Amino acid sequence: MPGDESWHSAVADEPVVPPASFVEQANVADADVRENFEREHPACWERAADLLDWSTDYDTVLTEDGPPFRWFEGGRLNASYNCVDRHLDERKNQVALTWEGRLGESRSYSYLDLYREVNEFAAALRGLGVEEDDIVTLYMPVVPELPVAMLACARIGAPHSVVFAGFSADALATRMEDADSEYLVTCDGYYRRGAPVHQKNKADNAAMALDDGVEATVVVDRLGDDTPLADDEYDYGELVTEHRGETVEPVERDATDQLFLIYTSGTTGEPTGVRHTTGGYLSYAAWTSHAVLDIKPEDTHWCSADIGWITGHSYTVYGPLALGTTTMLYEGTPDHPEKDRVWELIERNAVDVFYTAPTAIRAFMKWGEEHPGSHDLSSLRLLGTVGEPINPRAWKWYYTHIGDEDCPVVDTWWQTETGGMMVSTLPAVDDMKPGSAGQPLPGVDARVVDIDGEPVEPGETGYLALTGPWPGMPLSMVEHEDWFAEHASVVPDLSDYDWAYFTEDSATVDEDGYITVLGRVDDVINVSGHRFGTMEIESAIADVSGVAEAAVVSGPHDLKGQAVYAYVSATEEDEGALRERIAGAVEDAIGPIAVPDVVVFTSELPKTRSGKIMRRLLEDIANGDDLGDTSALRNPEVVGELESALPDRG
Ligand code: WTA
Repeated sequence: MPGDESWHSAVADEPVVPPASFVEQANVADADVRENFEREHPACWERAADLLDWSTDYDTVLTEDGPPFRWFEGGRLNASYNCVDRHLDERKNQVALTWEGRLGESRSYSYLDLYREVNEFAAALRGLGVEEDDIVTLYMPVVPELPVAMLACARIGAPHSVVFAGFSADALATRMEDADSEYLVTCDGYYRRGAPVHQKNKADNAAMALDDGVEATVVVDRLGDDTPLADDEYDYGELVTEHRGETVEPVERDATDQLFLIYTSGTTGEPTGVRHTTGGYLSYAAWTSHAVLDIKPEDTHWCSADIGWITGHSYTVYGPLALGTTTMLYEGTPDHPEKDRVWELIERNAVDVFYTAPTAIRAFMKWGEEHPGSHDLSSLRLLGTVGEPINPRAWKWYYTHIGDEDCPVVDTWWQTETGGMMVSTLPAVDDMKPGSAGQPLPGVDARVVDIDGEPVEPGETGYLALTGPWPGMPLSMVEHEDWFAEHASVVPDLSDYDWAYFTEDSATVDEDGYITVLGRVDDVINVSGHRFGTMEIESAIADVSGVAEAAVVSGPHDLKGQAVYAYVSATEEDEGALRERIAGAVEDAIGPIAVPDVVVFTSELPKTRSGKIMRRLLEDIANGDDLGDTSALRNPEVVGELESALPDRG
């Protein structure tokens, strides 16, 4: 953890200069790029729009007189055309998607294969009654049919809502209900740790919970067994076969039309739908893939995030395919069948760019450098991380043992809401400082401010705010001036800015303008780079019989960065049984990944005199931090009990 010796590196923290061999070939190597963007704002963003093909040119880059901000207004385009059709002339036989399945299978789609299947599935969706602007929910693990379905939706102008496959039936139903989504594409099941998970059962339970049910469900056969289908259920393979050879004209969408919806956790108990645009989002995903990940069409790119999260949307699917590269999908886990799985895949597929999460890097470190050491990783040109802070020790390990000190490492800060990377080094331009993400990207207005909204002095901690628009901003921010006021819990006063969005992260900034993101200041826990609202988990636990009260906070975890700690006061004595019921309830409400790592039973939760649970105090206890003054508590005597009840984390 920050402050803990093992979190940091023994090596002195000198800035790391980009390798010359990388700089020579980089997509963006102009040392003045930040100044140029600033001088040419907002026209600078034509560089991003120019990475796409527009069926109608836009009139203005940015309609700028404050919200609503409209990017590339007047422009029309189709995302599926941009990610597939336009590459056919030059690279129809190049691999677009290469998939490595959990059971060791591989499958590749050339751009021509992808074009055909996207068209066929788009025709099938139309045949089922899906119309422009209908929301189609996609609930699948990382199988090729998922990006195919995303692109098929984009082709007919039906925004998709991908729900992470590990989410529960309840979580799926909540999202479908909220999105008013009547169409579902799922699979019969998938394998987790060798055992099948019956995804279709979860989908069925979700459908039963929906007031209006589901209009049509398409089921991908992943398990290869005969899943009985009802009248309103269709087999993906049969549908595609029925529509074999059909083509569907890509629907022209306005730049400001919604491309997709994705749910994320915030401070409220309910997940929030974030709606991204066709022109702004896609050009931003393409631009950041080009400028930060340095992706070239001839590359094989591997972003290890699940497509169910925004990282997979932007950097497995839309960004890389818009640039016409080969994107790799991996369904499995990093340690199966062996702990060298990732390195074996990189070697076998000659991966050029690898983008992963600090959690994974910490696990690789723990497993030992002999695993990457036994593979030829010389195809790698650039390494990236995302999702949570990376400690300098893990950064250096990644740089040394994976990149052989010859690949820049980009530590990219961004959020579901931003659509793409916002703070990062430019790999051929900026020196890298292990542990610090870097400066705002060109054209991005990000700053660290104090509670009054004033920029902090170098070295001080403050709040990370975005103080200007960028093409990847979601529709909710484009449209509502008060979006930020509605969503923020700890609110620095940003009223002096023409427009601002508070990210709910805290950060420091150094004398060179490098931003180090410290973590969330709201009630969101970042477990292995995935966001969960503490309120969502708490309300699942509070419903368990035998639980009187529960409070959920984040605590330290060696590998995951943060873990879910639940403090529970119980009316039942059998703690073992209660623990199981709590785990089951969280699994049902959200999914296995949100199940608390630590459950502490206590006679009472610490409360203020007005009866509010002191969550901050619980968080300090979980983190072993100094508790400060506890005299405001109504029941200070529970503090000792809580401290001694914590498990030994060794
Ligand atoms: C955290 C994932 C430190 C941050 C793309 C943010 C990071 C939240 C970094 C968004 C990073 C993301 N350094 N923290 N490089 N990248 N975060 O919406 O707290 O799943 O607010 O988007 O992850 O998580 P989300």
